[in-house]
Amino acid sequence: MGRKRQLRLGASIHGVGSSHTAWRHPKILSDASVNLDFYTGQAQKAEEGKFDFVFVADGLYINDKSIPHFLSRFEPITILSALAAVTSRIGLVGTLSTSYSEPFTVARQFASIDHISGGRAGWNVVTSPLEGTALNFGGKRHPEHSERYHIAEEYLEVAKGLWDSWEDDAFVRDKKSGTFFDPGKLHRLNHEGEHFSVQGPLNIARSRQGQPVIFQAGSSDSGRNLAAKTADAVFTGPDSIEEAKAFYKDVKQRAAAAGRSADEILILPGIGPIVGATAEDAERKYHEIADLVTPEKALEYLGRYFEHHDFSQYPLDDPFPDLGDFGSNSFRSTTDRIKKQAKEQHLTLRQVALQEATPRTSFIGTPEQVADVVQRWFEEEAADGFIVGASVPGGLEDFVDLVVPILRERGLFREEYEADTLRGNLGIPIPANRYSKQKAL
Ligand SMILES: Cc1cc2nc3c(=O)[nH]c(=O)nc-3n(C[C@H](O)[C@H](O)[C@H](O)COP(=O)(O)O)c2cc1C
Repeated sequence: MGRKRQLRLGASIHGVGSSHTAWRHPKILSDASVNLDFYTGQAQKAEEGKFDFVFVADGLYINDKSIPHFLSRFEPITILSALAAVTSRIGLVGTLSTSYSEPFTVARQFASIDHISGGRAGWNVVTSPLEGTALNFGGKRHPEHSERYHIAEEYLEVAKGLWDSWEDDAFVRDKKSGTFFDPGKLHRLNHEGEHFSVQGPLNIARSRQGQPVIFQAGSSDSGRNLAAKTADAVFTGPDSIEEAKAFYKDVKQRAAAAGRSADEILILPGIGPIVGATAEDAERKYHEIADLVTPEKALEYLGRYFEHHDFSQYPLDDPFPDLGDFGSNSFRSTTDRIKKQAKEQHLTLRQVALQEATPRTSFIGTPEQVADVVQRWFEEEAADGFIVGASVPGGLEDFVDLVVPILRERGLFREEYEADTLRGNLGIPIPANRYSKQKAL
């Protein structure tokens, strides 16, 4: 790619926060998850900071134990479409499940966002962890973990195929001759696979960046393989720099084994930095949110990873219960990590629940301290960049105003956008249309 390795930054917009109780903080807008002004403000702040993209997570199943943000939030494609109109350079990445949607519809939706935004769209591919999701989609069986990933792989093959339906210059639109398109540059996919049968072509042209950028979230063995084969960027949630480095190395190696360049796949851990004028100030901000979490709510938070398991049935201060295989069909990589840590560190249920609901990470401190940790993770190849979530009110503003200038001074982060497409800014190639490529051979 010939460009110096540059830190990548995304901003995860998460409405009323990531716990059950954050919405009670006096400075959090209690309807932020369905407030267009809030989303617009966050996207514009991230763009002011020259972030690569904004990121919208999603899920398709709730119950009365879900966190408030999940109970009432925007559908990603819809909100990204609105954000495309009030931003001009920042990428727009949305989460959509391959287990509960159709590739033709989704390929068309992301291609549309890509056109609307002038080449700034990205799709975070997820497989939907929770079994209850099936109840909202015809009540069919929830596909098992590895089957979900098989479906996802075929799904992406179809979507990428559909995005090549039209070669770049297929639309001639010559009024004089009456030629709207060149039939030699229109291609049917004719996909017949195990899970999908899709003829094509897609009813929208290729965008300026060729195809939306593919993000992938899911860190199990199957998730890593899918990422290595198909993703441009990986959203991950490591617990420590050691875990992050091992993940980084592993996914890059898998990408190389799949015949790709290791530079073509970006590893982006999610972080919730808390920045204060002093270390004590940062600590105070952490407590303002953490102290709102009761043990009961922490158990509900933990339960979601395990199919909304009722953890209140176990004594709080006993060792974390032995759950056997439970959880491995939902958030497998997360539930495996929780079980392993609980065992190795001899943690009680209370400790595990609080650690998940109110994580204390190394990204808490003064602007210099947080910049130091960001720099260390980046330079030691634990991350190519980060997806920054606001875990306290004003979290994104603090990061943009106080940490980004330091990262810039240190030559780690851009002064200006290099390009006007998401691929261009992320430094990842535009995939050539497969048919044009064949013709050029
Ligand atoms: C960091 C991270 C972020 C995720 N974000 C989402 C999300 O926004 N929506 C969703 O339905 N699933 C999300 N998932 C779940 C995965 O897509 C997948 O369904 C589940 O975690 C099982 O995959 P894994 O065991 O490979 O991690 C996420 C998983 C990880 C690890």
